[in-house]
Amino acid sequence: MIEELTTHTWIERKTFCPAAGGADPGTKDHALESIEEHHVLLWMLSELEGLDPSDERFDAKMSVLMANVRHHVEEEEKEWFPEVRKAIGRNRLTELGEQMEAAKKKAPPIPSPCPAPSSRRPGGLVSSHVQKSRSRSRDGARAD
Ligand SMILES: [Fe+2]
Repeated sequence: MIEELTTHTWIERKTFCPAAGGADPGTKDHALESIEEHHVLLWMLSELEGLDPSDERFDAKMSVLMANVRHHVEEEEKEWFPEVRKAIGRNRLTELGEQMEAAKKKAPPIPSPCPAPSSRRPGGLVSSHVQKSRSRSRDGARAD
């Protein structure tokens, strides 16, 4: 579970969020919420990784994690992904799927707590991800 959810956050942060933000700036609020939810998810996973299942907090932490994941998946699948699907087009969607599949191989196997996302970047958090992705594409470098 920890590996799968860590991979999910990794590939969405590195590939999907920048592509979605570039395709439809109108979905920025969804992207920002997703980034924050991923941040909380990674934090909880990093705590669970070192927690013995017999610890009195284990079940409670798992319960909160599962509620957060269900909320996250529902919003992505019912709201954000359909909007991006309309905006991005079939060819780009296929290409993005291939990029996401390739990114899985680079995903770290375990989470590490990451600093809170900062909106102090020029242009805001989503815009900076999009700009970074575009400059990598322009330079012919792969997103990592
Ligand atoms: Fe996600």
